[in-house]
Parts: sequence; structure tokens; C-alpha cells
Amino acid sequence: MSEQATPPSAELSLHGARILIGASLDMAGMDAIRSAAKGARIAIVSDTNVGPLHATPLAGRLGVPESDRFQIAAGEVNKNRIEWTRLTNGMLNAGFGRDSVVVAVGGGVVGDLAGFAAATYMRGIPVIQVPTSLLAMIDAAIGGKTGVDTPAGKNLVGAFHHPTLVVADPAVLKTLPPRELRSGLAEALKHAIITSQAELDWLLANAKAMLHAEGPDQAVAGALIERNVRIKAAVVARDEKESGVRKSLNFGHTIGHAIEAASDYAMLHGESIAIGMRVEAMIAEALGLAAPTLAEQVTVAASALELPLQPLLPMTADAVLAATRTDKKARGGAVEYALAAGVGTMAAAGAGYGTRVSDDEVRAAVVRAFSA
Ligand SMILES: NC(=O)c1ccc[n+]([C@@H]2O[C@H](COP(=O)([O-])OP(=O)(O)OC[C@H]3O[C@@H](n4cnc5c(N)ncnc54)[C@H](O)[C@@H]3O)[C@@H](O)[C@H]2O)c1
Ligand SMILES: [Zn+2]
Repeated sequence: MSEQATPPSAELSLHGARILIGASLDMAGMDAIRSAAKGARIAIVSDTNVGPLHATPLAGRLGVPESDRFQIAAGEVNKNRIEWTRLTNGMLNAGFGRDSVVVAVGGGVVGDLAGFAAATYMRGIPVIQVPTSLLAMIDAAIGGKTGVDTPAGKNLVGAFHHPTLVVADPAVLKTLPPRELRSGLAEALKHAIITSQAELDWLLANAKAMLHAEGPDQAVAGALIERNVRIKAAVVARDEKESGVRKSLNFGHTIGHAIEAASDYAMLHGESIAIGMRVEAMIAEALGLAAPTLAEQVTVAASALELPLQPLLPMTADAVLAATRTDKKARGGAVEYALAAGVGTMAAAGAGYGTRVSDDEVRAAVVRAFSA
């Protein structure tokens, strides 16, 4: 019925997940959720920001009673085992059985936490992802990683659990705060840089349409989501468990995560990653692995996307360096970097995409990036 009347603008598939882009949560997207749930009892999980805006109306349309709707307080600090316990207890107390399905409506925090709850609830029940932030649409909801943060670091307890369905409706981006939207654009920039000059050109040509004061242009947002989902899905399809090419998705992330941690998470993930890509481009240039134009290309692109080039609060190079050591990508104590050799080319592609970098090189690049 309505699914035919308003067909999704794109449909992809990854590890059994049907990914619908541009399907309205009012119509085709909702029909797809209903049919993927196959009559199973639905637990809707959201957060305190997204709940009233998007999860409650969707729950109403799907006929999910109040007792089967769960909300976590918004924010990364709540992506933890306490909230996982609260959520799974809530589902147990409400009598959800093995024949239930979780529908996660929110940004990456909700997607990761609700996905992990689904992965572990009664040894695993299906999850449907309804990402509502740009970052979740083009990154977090794609690829099957779920999990929670721990005091020892982010995402350290989790599971691979592919969703059965992902519905990305660009219309929900209208309510996303602009700073969060730009944070998502940082991941689009990363995807473009690891993919090709043509991809980077497309992103920059469409930056303005994404950054309109009244919210992103819907057609451009749909196209951007589709391109980025295709990029991430293609990488994940080649390497689900991150033994090789999936590491290229970590470009900018060793330094980015360190900046995020050194800011005590006052800086958003994408903001930190934008600076991380710039620093890592400078590292690659200094090591002779990248052409001397890469850092400048990152700088120009990050500026066009209105992303920061400098930390938003003071931090020393040594604080950033120290924070790289707790990164999950530290293998056997040594920190590995997924460096780009240029737009569309990764360094060390023949050697697992990981490059070890000395403390002195890291410090020098951070100092250089933070001072210019
Ligand atoms: N699983 C993965 O592969 C993967 C990949 C990348 C990131 N992540 C995780 O994703 C998380 C970051 O995701 P995020 O940036 O979406 O953060 P988030 O979930 O905290 O969302 C950002 C903010 O925007 C609000 N929000 C989301 N959608 C909204 C909408 N449509 N309207 C109004 N407000 C809205 C949220 O309530 C929150 O306050 C991190 O925990 C990160 O580790 C996971
Ligand atoms: Zn990221």
C-alpha cells in the first residue's frame, strides 16, 4: 500500500540487513518496520530528546503501548552498563520473550546501547535500527557493531549484531541540532577522503545545501546518506570483523578519540575526528607517507563543512598523546594509526592498514596542528 505509493529512494543490503534510505517514517519506513517485525512484540528504545520528537509518534503509529516504550537519558555518559541493566530489566519485567524485536530510534548512543541489549537479551533477539542523527545514519547504524562504554574506555564491552532493517529518513534531521549535524558531516568527510577525489568534490559541492539554517536540503541529505552508507557498507562487506580494510574507517580516529577524551567529551565525536584527520594527515606527511598537500586538503574541506580545526578548549600535545594510549586500537601497547596517503589512498594497505608512529612524531604533528 503506502510502501508502493512512496518508494524508498534507495535500498541496500548488508549481512542480511535491509537498509532503506529516504523511506518516510510516516509511510514506507513504518510499513517496512511492521513487516520486518513480523508480528513480534516490539520494544521501542529511544532517548529523552528523540523520544518525544520521533519515537513516540512512531510508536503510536505502530500501535506499541506505553509499557513497551523505553527511554534513556540523552548523552554519551548514559551509554553504559547501568543503562543496559535498566533496559534489559525493564524488558524482563514487561515480559518480553525470545520472540520480541527491539526498535532503536535515536542517535548512535541509542543505537549502540539498544543494539547491545538486543544482542544479549535471551541470547539475542533481532534489532531494527532507526537512526535519527546524521552520524548514526551514515556510520553507527551500519556495520553491526553494538556496545557500551566502560570506565576503562569507550565501546569496550559489546557485540557484533547486525540489524534486520535500517530505516534512514532524512526528514528527522530537521530537528537535529546544527552542531550535531556538522559532527555527522565529519564522518562523511572521512568517507570521502578514504574513497576518492570525486567523492570529496561531491561533498564539498553540496556542503552549503546541508548547512542551511532551516535544516539540510532533503534531496541532498538523502543523496549524501545513500553515498555514505554505500561507502561504509562496501568496506564492512569486505571485512566485517576489522582485520584489514575496515581499519581504513579509523582514519582520523586515533587522534580524534584522544582529543575527544582529553576534552572530557565536551567536544563532539565528529568535531574531534575533524581535527584528528588533520593531525593524522600531518603525521603522514612528516613520515613521507602522504603527499605534502593532504593536510591542506583536509583543512579546506573541514572549514567548508564548518568543522573546527582547533580544539574548542585548551589541551596540550602531551595530554593528547597520553590519551592515544588508552585507545582501543592500541595493539599490544603500541598505538596504530590508519593513515591516508592521499585522497582515495590509504597508507600501509599491504600491511594491515596500521602504521606505528613514534611519540615524537605524534607530538610534533599535534603541536603543528594546534598552532596553525
Ligand atoms: N556502532 C558503530 O559502528 C558506531 C560508529 C560510529 C559511532 N558510534 C557511536 O555513536 C555514538 C555517537 O552517535 P551520535 O553522534 O548520533 O550521538 P547521540 O546518540 O548522542 O546523538 C547526538 C544528540 O542528538 C540528539 N538527537 C539525535 N537525533 C536527533 C533528532 N533527529 N532530533 C533532535 N535531536 C536528536 C540526541 O538525543 C543527542 O543529544 C557514540 O557513542 C559512538 O561511539 C558507533
Ligand atoms: Zn567516528
